[in-house]
Amino acid sequence: MHELADVARVMGGRKIRRVVYEADAIRDRVREMGREITDAYPDGDLLVLGLLKGSFIFLGDLVREIQRPIQVDFLVATSYGNATVSSGEVRLVYDPETRLDGKHILLVEDIIDSGRTLNRLMEVLGTRNPRSLAMCALLHKHIAPDLRVEPRFLGFDAPKEFLVGYGLDHAEDFRHLPFIASLAE
Ligand code: IMP
Ligand code: MG
Repeated sequence: MHELADVARVMGGRKIRRVVYEADAIRDRVREMGREITDAYPDGDLLVLGLLKGSFIFLGDLVREIQRPIQVDFLVATSYGNATVSSGEVRLVYDPETRLDGKHILLVEDIIDSGRTLNRLMEVLGTRNPRSLAMCALLHKHIAPDLRVEPRFLGFDAPKEFLVGYGLDHAEDFRHLPFIASLAE
């Protein structure tokens, strides 16, 4: 998958600037994050809430590295259309059916960019009387002007480039890449 010819094949002709995180590096970091999460929650019900669609691969890998009982559910919120710049509005399309009250809630996000999605979701989830509420993100661009809650668990400090792969898309393309790359203009 690291050969140039293989990258060109999965990208369907679209050019990438560079591979930012190789599949191996992601795997190692996700494994460590699973250990951090396991150690951070010694007791109580833990509900891991994946924010779709971007977190689907990360969440799938992460939960298998958490060595304690957990429940898994999802949230669907929309912010961007096909743009590479956030339009601002955040809409909740699917709300978890699982009860949240009295549980440790861990919201899992793929990447923190403007932070709008997370600010809104943490506010909504906070009203459901969780025992604790924290956030886990694979990537953080550190450009959010007013991020209210920093992630308790973070994979990587991301470059300020538009990234695709490992769940991250550009207009729904490239989510399936096993690595994370930045797109060429
Ligand atoms: P935010 O609300 O601006 O923090 O952005 C939230 C969502 O935008 C993320 O969950 C991603 O789905 C998407 N997003 C932000 N930056 C990128 C990127 O570099 N590549 C792909 N998707 C991104
Ligand atoms: Mg997206």
